[in-house]
Amino acid sequence: MRAEHPKLAAGLAALGIDVRSGTSLSELTSLGIGGTTDLLRITKHDSIPDLIELLEHHNIPYKFLGGGSNLLVGDGELPWVILQLAKPDPEIVLEGNFAHVDAAADLGRTVTFCAKHDLGGMEGLIGVPGTVGGALRMNAGAYGMQIGSYVREVKLYRAAERKIEILKGNQISFEYRHTSFGPDDMMLAVTLELPSKPFKEILQGIRICNEKRRSSQPLGQKSAGCIFKNPLGASAGRMIDELGLKGLSVGDAKVSDRHANFFVNAGHASAKDMLALISDVRGRVENAFGVKLENEVVVWNA
Ligand code: EPU
Repeated sequence: MRAEHPKLAAGLAALGIDVRSGTSLSELTSLGIGGTTDLLRITKHDSIPDLIELLEHHNIPYKFLGGGSNLLVGDGELPWVILQLAKPDPEIVLEGNFAHVDAAADLGRTVTFCAKHDLGGMEGLIGVPGTVGGALRMNAGAYGMQIGSYVREVKLYRAAERKIEILKGNQISFEYRHTSFGPDDMMLAVTLELPSKPFKEILQGIRICNEKRRSSQPLGQKSAGCIFKNPLGASAGRMIDELGLKGLSVGDAKVSDRHANFFVNAGHASAKDMLALISDVRGRVENAFGVKLENEVVVWNA
């Protein structure tokens, strides 16, 4: 989808939107898969309601991209433009135990920045790729913690209200890899309340989580993390492994040899390959265990 109409282009320029034509989503996603479209980079949160109105006026569908680390995007020319927040400077402002963080901030850098200021709690998230906004929307978690536990306030564009709003932490429900945000809501900024801990102690926790992750996950390869959610009381990775499916592939899309719930792009996998692999594995697990695995990865397919 191209944002080419001269009136649209003028409107975008007036809103300070940086247009990057013909961007390949394979360059913006950790899976390295995805077709081409125009990327609109937002420099001011306040421009979002007008931007959405402008796009709708010109019948341009859009999707909002975070860090692209939990996302499988379809192939070819994509039928929507992509909106993404540009990173502000600074991305994080600390105030006592509160960290005010822009949604575009890198999650790992946020964890280490807070740690250096003796604010802990998020050690488990070290090594989870992506932005703070993406982690917030999905309620990212690992090693017994989830980001939702620390959220005190969220600034977001509420698609249903067509305006920017501030929600208190207790107005949002955070469940396992699920939140009460609307599907089209855009995370803009968050205030986290983090426990005080000495840097050295946080560093120790970070090292342990890093080591666990390194020993069990295919970190150097292109992936979107876990493909399926864990069913209640079970592990998707263990079930896939028990069926002997590590290494199973469709084209260059492959079940990781290291962790069976990670599917990697071992070369030039297409979305079609990856979707076929997901469907094949889901079918085999359902036949063997009677459990229909639900996607953890977000799929944007035309
Ligand atoms: N297991 C196997 N074979 C495998 C993979 C796992 O037997 O190929 C076994 C492990 O030995 C372990 C159990 O399955 O006994 C659980 O495995 P693991 O500790 O790796 O955790 P997981 O449930 O597979 C979850 C999250 C990860 C997160 C880790 C660590 C989900 C879907 N996955 O994985 O999150 O990093 O715990 O806390 O909830 C993600 O969200 O993308 C993600 C990778």
